[in-house]
Amino acid sequence: MSMTLRRLSRAATAGLVAAAALTAAAHSAEAADTLGSAAAGQGRYFGTAVAASHLGEADYTATLDREFSSVTPENEMKWDATEPSRGTFTFTSADRIVDHAQSQGMDVRGHTLVWHSQLPSWVGSLGASDLRTAMKDHINGLMGHYKGEIHSWDVVNEAFQDGGSGARRSSPFQDKLGDGFIEEAFRTARAADPAAKLCYNDYNTDGVNAKSNAVYNMVKDFKSRGVPIDCVGFQSHFNSNSPVPSDYRQNLQRFADLGVDVQITELDIEGSGSAQAADYTKVVEACLAVDRCAGMTVWGVTDKYSWRSSGTPLLFDGNYQEKPAYDAVLSALGGSGDPGDPGDPGDPGDGTASCTATYTRTADWNSGYNGQVTITAGDEPISTWTVTVTLPAQQSVSSLWNGTPTWNGNVMTVKPSWNGTLAAGASTGFGFTAAKNGSDAAPTVGTCTAS
Ligand code: G3I
Repeated sequence: MSMTLRRLSRAATAGLVAAAALTAAAHSAEAADTLGSAAAGQGRYFGTAVAASHLGEADYTATLDREFSSVTPENEMKWDATEPSRGTFTFTSADRIVDHAQSQGMDVRGHTLVWHSQLPSWVGSLGASDLRTAMKDHINGLMGHYKGEIHSWDVVNEAFQDGGSGARRSSPFQDKLGDGFIEEAFRTARAADPAAKLCYNDYNTDGVNAKSNAVYNMVKDFKSRGVPIDCVGFQSHFNSNSPVPSDYRQNLQRFADLGVDVQITELDIEGSGSAQAADYTKVVEACLAVDRCAGMTVWGVTDKYSWRSSGTPLLFDGNYQEKPAYDAVLSALGGSGDPGDPGDPGDPGDGTASCTATYTRTADWNSGYNGQVTITAGDEPISTWTVTVTLPAQQSVSSLWNGTPTWNGNVMTVKPSWNGTLAAGASTGFGFTAAKNGSDAAPTVGTCTAS
């Protein structure tokens, strides 16, 4: 769609959007909240990354339209998708997402203008002067096409290195234009669409660390010199190697105190059940505790299409069922569920298999002991379970009953032998005999997972 047509189309949909908002307001008094409506009650948006290729899937689109108030194209606005060869812009897939969002009254985040990744090879082959022109042309091309239609743009993405140095990451922009490329990008972006909020976006900057300190110092410098920057995006991709930092809220707050908004831009947390739900709660509570936290975006609608799908990091499972993490987020946002819907906060049974595991020592003698791990199904029946038990390094297991172990060093992963099927709330367990070999310490039982 041409720029002019995009602007006309936007004006036409504005009336529809206003009507949709009125309908939503009238509806909310009697119906269950959604992520978007509950977040709106807190003055925040609740968004998701969207892939144009999934918009034809009815369950995907129904979930998207029902729950979210903002969308971020997951890949469709990146440089390789929009300007694959110099000066030739293609907006077909991105337009599809923006048009869909506008038809539903959702806002759109722009992701991303200047990034070292998903960059067509022609960009890397330019000399400095040409590269500067190409960068500005790219910013103007995208922001011009969507002028007035994007609430926040990730102007520069991931420009700092991981690790303790706080240094800039090597990229064609950094290597050829130097540190000043970020400032040039933001100045160009402000002129291209003065209404859009301009964000710097990065990962592993979620807690206070060398990388977030480096971003902090850049933002502080920009604010002191009048370089236009309105927001900082914290991607928030979490898993057991990179858990939700204990100083997450403090980190968001110190950026907000510089005079910028903060946004949680690509949230996903690997895991399942109540542990995952608790982590999501921490993130939502942190955002709500920081006045300038404008909103949250999860990095996908359903686990099955996540970039980390094996880690089931999102709020809806592969069948679009609400997970415990969904209930936790809705609840943390102050939303209430529909009493008739078993997926809503406070209701028993959310369609997700879960279990808990507890350990007790059942016999003890000088050189060894017997341990018992009890597995209890959550509020849904389960057909199998998996538990890890980490033994102190010296100890060894001589026998195990009512379970099937596999070993990795001193970690045993135990699955059922005959006892995988449990009714909701029912228990089973396995036992083992261990030799102490000089250590009387207790083993550690990990999270129980079920399906
Ligand atoms: O569409 C093609 C398909 O035609 C082809 O058959 C297939 C073969 O590999 O590739 C498909 O493209 C993939 C694309 O995702 C769409 O699924 C690309 O290979 C793949 O590289 C691309 O990954 C994206 C990744 O960014 C690229 O860096 C992920 O979807 C996207 O979630 C991820 O998002 C990033 C953010 O932009 C920045 N922050 C980190 C975040 C996670 O990595």
